[in-house]
Order: sequence, then C-alpha cells, then structure tokens
Amino acid sequence: ARIVDDDLRFDCYPQFGANEEGCVKRGCCWKVTDTQNAPYCFYPPQYETYQFVNSTENKHGMTVYYSRSYDTGYPGQFSVARIDFNYLSNEILQIKISDAEHKRFEPAYPEVPMVFNSVSEMKYRVQVDSSAVGFKVVRNSDNVTIWDAQNTGGMILSDKFLQFSAILPTNYTYGLGEKQDRFLNDLNWKTHTIFNNDQPPTENVHLYGSHPFYLALETNGNSHGVILLNSNAMDIVLQPTPAITYRTIGGVLNFYMFLGPSPSDVVAQYTEIIGKPFMPPYWALGFHLCKYNYGSLNVTRDVWQKNRDAGIPFDVQWNDLDYMSKGNDFTYDTDKFSGFPDFVKTVHEAGMHYVLLFDPGVSASEKPGEYPPFDRGLEMDIFVKNSTDQPFVGKVWNRISTVWPDFTHPNTTAYWKEMMADFHRKVNFDGAWIDMNEPSNFLSGSMYGECTPEELPYKPISIAAEGLKHKTLCMDAKHHAGAHYDIHNLYAITEAVATNSALAEIRGKRPLIISRASSPGLGHFAGHWSGDVFSKWHDLKASIPQLLSFSLFGVPLMGADICGFIGDTTPELCKRWMQLGAFYPFSRNHNSDTAKPQDPVSMGESVVDASRTALRMRYRLLPYYYTLFWRAHIDSATVARPLFFEFPQDPRVYSIDTQFLIGDHIMITGILEEGANSTNVFYPGPNPWYSFNTGKQLAVDSWRSIGDDEMVAVRGGSILVLQEPPVKGPVNTGNTRSLPLQILIAPDTVGVASGELYWDDGDSLNSYEEKKYTHIVFKVKENELTSSIQWWGYGVPSINKIKVFAQNPIKTVTVNNAAATFSYDQKTRVLTILNINVNLDRSLSVKWT
Ligand code: NOJ
Repeated sequence: ARIVDDDLRFDCYPQFGANEEGCVKRGCCWKVTDTQNAPYCFYPPQYETYQFVNSTENKHGMTVYYSRSYDTGYPGQFSVARIDFNYLSNEILQIKISDAEHKRFEPAYPEVPMVFNSVSEMKYRVQVDSSAVGFKVVRNSDNVTIWDAQNTGGMILSDKFLQFSAILPTNYTYGLGEKQDRFLNDLNWKTHTIFNNDQPPTENVHLYGSHPFYLALETNGNSHGVILLNSNAMDIVLQPTPAITYRTIGGVLNFYMFLGPSPSDVVAQYTEIIGKPFMPPYWALGFHLCKYNYGSLNVTRDVWQKNRDAGIPFDVQWNDLDYMSKGNDFTYDTDKFSGFPDFVKTVHEAGMHYVLLFDPGVSASEKPGEYPPFDRGLEMDIFVKNSTDQPFVGKVWNRISTVWPDFTHPNTTAYWKEMMADFHRKVNFDGAWIDMNEPSNFLSGSMYGECTPEELPYKPISIAAEGLKHKTLCMDAKHHAGAHYDIHNLYAITEAVATNSALAEIRGKRPLIISRASSPGLGHFAGHWSGDVFSKWHDLKASIPQLLSFSLFGVPLMGADICGFIGDTTPELCKRWMQLGAFYPFSRNHNSDTAKPQDPVSMGESVVDASRTALRMRYRLLPYYYTLFWRAHIDSATVARPLFFEFPQDPRVYSIDTQFLIGDHIMITGILEEGANSTNVFYPGPNPWYSFNTGKQLAVDSWRSIGDDEMVAVRGGSILVLQEPPVKGPVNTGNTRSLPLQILIAPDTVGVASGELYWDDGDSLNSYEEKKYTHIVFKVKENELTSSIQWWGYGVPSINKIKVFAQNPIKTVTVNNAAATFSYDQKTRVLTILNINVNLDRSLSVKWT
C-alpha cells in the first residue's frame, strides 16, 4: 500500500479487536503508528467499493448511479447505489445516498418541506468524478472544498452498516450530540455515539438526544453546516485531518448541507428543513421551580409561598411524578395531594402558571376498568407491540409493569388528547414536562421473554455491553412506522408532536412542553433541559456548551437544572448557578428526590439575595428575550449564542464557552469556579461593552476581570426595551407585563444604535400569524432616538424612562419636541430621561444635546 499520512487514515476496522489478518482480509492496510488514537488498520488511498455507472443532471439536481465493485464483507451490501444531489435552494444542498433497488427505512420526522426557493445563484457546486467513488462539494465564492469525499475509504453501504467519510476545510466544528463536552469539538479521533439514552450527562457517553448536526466555522469567517437525517444508532468520528466519518447501522444516508455563509444563516437554513422553533408563552420565560419528591401538596405550597414571599421573581410552579398515585400517569395522589385542583387555582389567581410531569409509559398493572389510560389504550390498539403483536411490556415508575403508546400510530394523537383532556378537567395544568421519553425502561428489554438477539456488524462505541436495548425497549418491538431499531430516536419527537397538539386544543393557548429526549425538529414543538446533571462545579460549566449546542439544534428554549440535579448542592454553588441560570432561555431550579431542597429560600440568605438580583435583571430583560424568541420563531434566529455567531472573523472567540450572548446585544458571564469572586471575560470589539447595571464601560476588544455585579454586559450599538418588575410584593410576568417600559441605549463608536420590540398578549395561539401583535423598530443616530412602527395589532405599555450610556454632559433633552426632565451622571456618563409617559402608538423622537 502507498503510505498514508497518519492524519489521513480512515479507520477500516472500527470494531473491537482490530488485527492485521482481519484488516488485510478487508483489503485494508495495517501499519502500527505512534500517533495517538490513529487507527492501525486503514483504507488504501483508492478503496473503490463502487464504480460509477452514469449521472444525469438538470437545474434541480444530479443523480449518480454506482454499481458495487468490491466486497467489503458487510452483510447485505447494496448492489446498485444512487446519490441524489438535490439543489434545494441557493444555500441548501441535499445529498441522499441510498439503495437504488430497495426501499429502506427513512424517518418521517422531521417533516421536511417539499417546496424550496428556486435556485438562481447556487453557493455551491458538486463535483463527481467518473473514475473514483465519491464526490466533492465546493463553495463557489471562494472555492473552499466543504466536503472532499473522494479517497476517504469509499462508501460502505450495507444493510446494517453505512459508512461515509469526508475531509473538512476547518478545525472548528460545533454540535453533534447530545453530549457533554467543551463546545468546540475535539478532533483527536473522537467518536460520538448518537442514540437516545437515559444517561446523566458525563463526558464520552451518549445522552438523551440525537442530533447528527454540526456547524463548521471556516477560518475566513464563513461557515456551513451538515445534518444527517437518519434515525438509527450511529457513531460520528472527528479526526485531525480534519475529517468526519459517519457510521450508522440502518436507513439511508440523507444529508443536508447548509452553505451559510454566516453561522446564523446556517442555523436558519437548518431550521427551514427541520422546522422553526415554536413561540413560547411569555410566562414560560419567567423563573420555574420544581423538585422531585416535594412529597406532598403541603410541601409544594409551602415552597411556592416562601419563594414568592421572598420576592424571588417566579412564574411557574412544577410538580414531578410524586403528585401521581402509584407513579401512574393521569392520576394524582388524593391523600398527599388532597386539594390539588384548588392549589392550581390559587397559583393561577396569583398570576402564575403550573406545569406537570408526564411519563410516556402507561401502567399495565391496574385492574381492568380501574385505569382508563391502559384500558383505552388497549381498545384503541395504540401500544407499542412485541414480536408476537402483544403490547410490549417493560417497567418504569410504577415498578410493576409498563406499556408505551406508539406515537407513530394514527390513533395515538386522539388517545393522548383524551388522556390529557380528562386529566386537565381535574387539574388545570398549563404545560407538560415530557420525561423518560428516550424511551427509558428500568428493564433492558422486555418483561416477558428475550429480545431477538441484536446481530450487528458494528456496535456504536458507547453502547453498553448488553446492546442497544440497554435501559430501553427491544429493538424488535413494533411501532406502526417500523421497528424500534429504526424508531427509537424518534420516540420523543412523536410524543412532543402529540402533546403539543393536545395542549393547544385543550387549553386554546400556547403550549409549553419541555422534553428530555430529542431529535432534529423537536424545537418546533418543545423545549429541552439537560437532564440529570450533577450538583458540581464541573456541571455548572458544562451547562453553557449544552445550552449553545441546542441553539445550533434549533431548540432555543433550553436550560440546565439550576443548582444541579443529582446530589446536594452547596450555598456557594447554588448562588453561582442561580446567577448564571437566571439567564438561561429556560430557567428552572430542579433537583432529585434524594437531594436536599435547593429552592432559593431553602438555601439561605446569600442564595435568596443573589437569585432575586439576577432574576430581577432577567425579568427586566424579558421584552428583549421575548422579541428574540419571536425572531427565532419567524426567522430561525438563535436566542443564546456563542460569541463566534456575532464575531465569526475573530479567532480569539472560537473556543470560548464560559460566556455566551443572548441575541446580539447582551453578553452573559458566570463565576464558574469554586472560591472565586471574579472571572475573566472577553469583550470582542470594535464596539465597547457596558455594564448593564451601571452603564460603565467595561472593555473594548479585550479581556477584563469582572465581579458578580457585572455579569450582564450590553454591547455598544444596542437599544434594549426593558420592563422593571414591581418593587414590592411577589414578582411574576403577569404583574410585570402591564407596567411601563424603559429604553436603554448603548451607542456604538459613532453614536449609532438599534433595537426592536415584539409584543402581543403573550399567550394566544398564532398571535403573530393572526397579526395580533405590535412590532416597533428603534434607532439612534446623531443624539436622536426614533421609533418606527412596523405593525400595530396589539397595545404596548408606555415608556417612562430612557437611559443613554456613554454621553458627554447634556444640556437639553426633548421628547417629541417638548422639554423633558433628565439627570446626568458625570462618573458613569449615563444620561437618564425621567418621568416621561409616552405612548409608542405614534413614532417617537427623543433628542439630547
Ligand atoms: C428523570 C428526570 O430527568 C428528572 O428530572 C426527574 O426528576 C425524574 N425523572 C423523576 O421524574
């Protein structure tokens, strides 16, 4: 064999127990190397598994046929393969590699739209070479090869092993999850298994969700992204070439490539394919409180009351499964939770909301006639089946026996709605927390009988010894849409779809659904939290890369269990976590049954003070957060952003994951080290960054150490619309939303700034779609703030205060041409225009000189 550079080796023997004899038998090269992690067994430069037959091209795409020319030894190799390159838009290329002769499984979720923009000026071109298997995709503007998939080990296309490798143009890739890791992916032969798994987040194991999506940042600031829409268990390997290898154990290789060029463009193009994020209700952006095993309604009420009384801004009380009777869905414990419906009423009367946990598993152990969720499920024939067509039985919270609704069955939407509606008539909940939907099973496989043995030519590396069935269903369990082997990763999204439509119909208002498991497209129906994280400093830090990954995955409503889930937190850790988590898009403090209570009040004064301060800042910023969620909903913008989204040309930010942006105006930092009182933050230029609290300039294009009073920074060039929560009494979005707004202006280096406000009633279905909203754009130029109304379909509170940062001493201020009262602070250089009471229903002009 010709010498292959160590970095260019593509692993020809990824299975356990690679050896020279087996390697050579595959037609591969064996050479021991010192390069750490590099494979000893690798493909020769030309590993021609397929031979070009023909290709046809028109303006919508190109189809290439290949016939098999080499026996790779994998069972069920495709004799004729086809690659369809579909030019879906100028920026989106679909690359579908499939069996030309047999139909294979393809996931029905997400539902990819059929109609795309017409192609006029394609940003990419595809190069196919009739003398070699594979292809290249090149970006037209700069001739960068986005994927070089020639001489990368051929393509291996067989029934249960499909492998494809490509050389990448950059070392900077992000995404591929769900995992716990730094945000910037490690290229040191790192393999990521993707298969939904009930697994507390730790490094190097596959977690709850499956997102075979990466975003790559090319060093000239351009970026691109790729999703593999395949729902089977898989491994994705990153190696230092830099290169990527996909190894999936079923389906077809259906890739979509997004040419950006900006990182935000990539995410927007991606969510065009998988579905844009849902619009959350306003209250969902408030603070949420939960614990597994409050154990009774009295304790729940007590925690709720105490935290309200302590002035913690607080919108949503939750209950975990301990509200249920015997751990059974759609029931409640009438002893320990006696008076439950009245409590929920009280919560509503206080202007707050209430969310309950639902598990997908339904008890199969109640007497006939006593538990409708099981009886009706049998009648409607909607449970997942075993190989002999009986309901598949496992075990979850009731610890006796459990069956699972098959959300791919056409009757299950009606079943789920009926169950939700019946229970909703008893307990008037506002949102659903859908947990354990990997689906998680306390058994690995079935309660009755063995699963059909999983005979796999390749087992993804972090799958447990007992196989794919580890803590879930047998792979041969049957769903309407296919075998669990293919459906597993889709279970959560299908549940989210059914839950979303059930809640929308039952409540007639915007649903809030938070799901543990996920797959591409979840964000159109639900948000996510990062599951059972540990109450450790390490996990506090890890929460930022997790949050940012889900921004890439199109799930902006995301957060970690604040203060940690597993184990007892400490006042210091909880304080720091509340200070950071107050700014997660989804901000909820929750912990496990066995850990000590960790709501702010239970943690003591220092946590209460820090939580109140941080959450009051969040609540002030909610009009801004809400406007960002609207942008996410209509334009696929991100809410939490890595720094490189706004500064893609600045390599200094490429690996930063200890701070993040909310939209393009706000930077959030936390103190993430035990014992520390300050932290180093990078403030990218050219515009200065200001302390949100004081207006003091923090830094311009440099690092700076800050304390916990400066963890929110405003970028020069921003106009923020804010709303001050009530100063006395309990704080929630209900009693904040009617109070006046304020405007905060942080000009850029030439005195220019801009911002916008989206406002509606916060809870109706389709407010935007039905034009029942108001959208106002604000601009500052030459010491004048103006507003322009883009749409007026709903009222907006008036403005009572305007602050302008970075001003020289001011002599006069006018608001709509009338003199206005103001104050000026020499030290901070902040101008404050006070006691104005202007309505935004006509355009505004505020001048200062
Ligand atoms: C697992 C979830 O991840 C956790 O948040 C919840 O408390 C438990 N299930 C109990 O429902």
